[in-house]
Amino acid sequence: MIKTIAFLSSDGGCAKTTSAHLLCLGAVWNAVEAAFIHTDNKAPITINRPYHYFDCRAPEQLVSKVNEILNSGIPGVVVIDGGAGRKGNDEWFSKKTNLIVIPVDLSQGGVREAISTSLLVTKNGGNFVFIIPNCPSENSMGKKDKWFIGEIAKNGPVAARIPPIKSIRDLDEDDVDGQFITPQTAVNKAARNLYTALSLYW
Ligand SMILES: Nc1ncnc2c1ncn2[C@@H]1O[C@H](COP(=O)(O)OP(=O)(O)OP(=O)(O)O)[C@@H](O)[C@H]1O
Ligand SMILES: [Mg+2]
Repeated sequence: MIKTIAFLSSDGGCAKTTSAHLLCLGAVWNAVEAAFIHTDNKAPITINRPYHYFDCRAPEQLVSKVNEILNSGIPGVVVIDGGAGRKGNDEWFSKKTNLIVIPVDLSQGGVREAISTSLLVTKNGGNFVFIIPNCPSENSMGKKDKWFIGEIAKNGPVAARIPPIKSIRDLDEDDVDGQFITPQTAVNKAARNLYTALSLYW
């Protein structure tokens, strides 16, 4: 059965878009068909990935496209890049998706916004997990980072930590000359790990 997952947070720049692409890639590397749904107000990018990419910036496009995919009977995952702070959308996502993923930036504001997003999701009857993108390894982690992770874990499950990866930024950029270039090993590994970790929750 097809699953829908939305990456959501009222915190700008917490890695929603990057992590949503990473999940699509992880699905594909697990032989699962994936669709990336672009909903924020940034210009769509030109890609030729092994997953689908749909421009659904208008709310009515979002609803009809997601319903169209759901009715198509294709087994796989629909990954919605929810953008930040569009209240109407956030409520719709909470009600209609199998899982809401809230990426957390390890900072005071990042933790606060992630928790406030999780409360909104719960209020609207949604299931959520947190993930921590760009997360230092246990050895190189500072005291503050550990404290932030502890605070987050008090408010809900932390499903995955994604390590800092420089080349990950290519995921939310145009594919040069419309060619998909297989990402570096670190990206592929993080993609597979993210897919496996999140699939335990949907
Ligand atoms: N695991 C990671 N390692 C290193 N850099 C990362 C990682 N994940 C995300 N980033 C970087 O963090 C920055 C913000 O990521 P991204 O654009 O995905 O955030 P966003 O939540 O979608 O932002 P916005 O709210 O503006 O839509 C980007 O420069 C991205 O390359
Ligand atoms: Mg984004």
